[in-house]
Order: sequence, then structure tokens, then C-alpha cells
Amino acid sequence: MRVAFPLLFLLAAACDPRVGDVLGLPGDAATGEVLYTTECADCHAPDGTGGDGGPAIDHAHGRRATVHQMLYGGADMPAFADALSDQQVADLYAHLDAHIFSHEH
Ligand code: HEC
Repeated sequence: MRVAFPLLFLLAAACDPRVGDVLGLPGDAATGEVLYTTECADCHAPDGTGGDGGPAIDHAHGRRATVHQMLYGGADMPAFADALSDQQVADLYAHLDAHIFSHEH
């Protein structure tokens, strides 16, 4: 089970149709920045350096994994699949990629 569980999770992430839908949309970083401020910054801080509610996210992340995390949440992160549209998740990713995920760390 130690090996099977992460494998199943990866497969589910790779095949999830909603993740694929989001990845097909061009995102708008300016709209994403507004969404980030209202939906994410409380836990991850405005610049992604983390806080009480969530870890630092200011380092590189995979696109698919990030979209999956936003839609379905994690151990302690809420899911946003119902709260956000596909376009909003794409906009958020555009902001994260442009301004939060520092590729220099
Ligand atoms: C209630 C607090 C909370 C909110 C709100 C929240 N997160 Fe998180 N986030 C977490 C926690 C805690 C984790 C750590 C892993 C887990 O629980 O899955 C995490 C993990 C992540 C990760 C993966 C970090 C890594 O290194 O693997 C990303 C990316 C992320 N969050 C982005 C976002 C975005 C974008 C939003 C807004 C749409 C958001 N989070 C909203 C708490 C939060």
C-alpha cells in the first residue's frame, strides 16, 4: 500500500478531466492576483512566503500538480473546485507562475 497509494493518486491527478480543462485555458494573471488576495493570501501570504495557515509556496511547482491542489485541496488545504470556475483557476495559476513561484530559489 505504501507504493500503491501515491501511484493511484498520481494516476488520478494525471487523468482528472477537470484538471485537463483548466490546463487548456489561457489564464489572466491580473485577475488571478485579485483572486489570490481574497482566496489564498490569508494562508500563504500575499507574496507566497507562507504563514500560520499554509506553507511557503514561493518555489517552483508543476502546473498540473498546482491546478490539482487548487481544485481538490490537500491534507489541510480546502478544495476550491466548487468555489472557483475553471477560468478562475487558470487565472490563479497564471498569477502564481508569473509572480509567486520564484524560479530563482
Ligand atoms: C486554509 C488555508 C489555506 C488556503 C485558504 C489555501 N491553502 Fe494552499 N495550502 C495550505 C496547506 C496547509 C498546504 C500544505 C499541503 C496540504 O495541506 O495539502 C497548502 C499547499 C498548497 C500548495 C502546494 C505546496 C507544496 O509545496 O506542495 C499550493 C501550490 C497551494 N497550497 C496554493 C494555494 C492557492 C493557489 C490557494 C488559493 C486558491 C490556496 N493554496 C489556499 C493551506 C491553504
